[in-house]
Amino acid sequence: MLSKTIYQLLNDQVTAEQDAAYKYLQMAAWAEKEGLSGAAKFFRVHSQEEEGHRDRIFDYLNECGQEVVLGAIDAPKHDYDNLLEVIQAAYDHEKKVTGMIKRIAEASFAEQDYQTFNFIQWFVAEQHEEETLFMTVLDKARVLGYEGEKQGEALYLLDQYLANAHEEAGGDPE
Ligand SMILES: [Fe+2]
Repeated sequence: MLSKTIYQLLNDQVTAEQDAAYKYLQMAAWAEKEGLSGAAKFFRVHSQEEEGHRDRIFDYLNECGQEVVLGAIDAPKHDYDNLLEVIQAAYDHEKKVTGMIKRIAEASFAEQDYQTFNFIQWFVAEQHEEETLFMTVLDKARVLGYEGEKQGEALYLLDQYLANAHEEAGGDPE
């Protein structure tokens, strides 16, 4: 049995993971519109990973005999100016999610709910990977000298890099 606080945090996280999936799916649509097939694949795969995160927490709550109650999700931003802005927005979002996961880890530890504390460790590791992934992409953009141009070689190479960036980063820790 989960405490009210832990239940609330985990239940909200189900919606938060769906929200992240939604944001990345919109980023994939933006990339498709711009003709950036590598970036489109990258964000599509990332969106699917977020759905996997949603399902993990959904399953955990069910296993604990708790009903999942889904919250509302705002329409994601779609009018990005350039690829650098999109990647930066994704990185910022990952940092926000890391904060949410950290709160769950802190609360479960404080309540001596070691079952949830153990469950959330996978997400702690996953968030580290996600932040590293987006930081690596931002580093790659800097090395290529890409500063948000709408066309050109740096954008082309960054798009190519993104096509396989998940594989290079080791993908999901599952
Ligand atoms: Fe996630």
